Amino acid sequence: MSRLIKFGMVAALAAIALTPLAPRKAWAAEMTPAQQKRQLFRRGAQLWPVYCNTCHNARPGAEFSPAEWNMIIMHMRTQANLPPQDANAILEYLKASR
Ligand code: HEC
Repeated sequence: MSRLIKFGMVAALAAIALTPLAPRKAWAAEMTPAQQKRQLFRRGAQLWPVYCNTCHNARPGAEFSPAEWNMIIMHMRTQANLPPQDANAILEYLKASR
C-alpha cells in the first residue's frame, strides 16, 4: 500500500473519530421550551404503555389530576425502578393527556 493511501485512510478515520457531536447539541439548544415539552410528551407517550402496563393496567392520564400524578409517579418510580428522565417524560404525558 502506498504511503499516500495509508495517510489518507488514517486522516479519514481521524476525521470520523474527531467529528464532534456538537450539531445535535446545538439543535437541542435551539428548541423552544414549548418544543422541549412536546418532545417530552411524545417520549412519555411511547414509554407509558411499556412501563406502566407491566404490573397492572396502565391508567390513563384523565383518571387523576396533575397533582395526583405527581404523587403517583413519585411512588411508581420506585416500584418500577424508572430512570428519572423516563419518569419525567411519563409524568408530562399523563398530566397533559386529559
Ligand atoms: C413493578 C410493578 C409496577 C409498575 C412497573 C408500575 N406500577 Fe403502578 N402500582 C403497582 C402496585 C403494586 C400498585 C398498588 C399498590 C401500591 O400503591 O403500591 C400500583 C398502583 C398504581 C396506581 C394506583 C391505582 C389506584 O387504583 O389507585 C396508579 C395510578 C399507578 N400504579 C400508576 C402507575 C404508572 C403511571 C406506572 C408507570 C410509570 C406504574 N404504575 C408502574 C406496581 C407497579
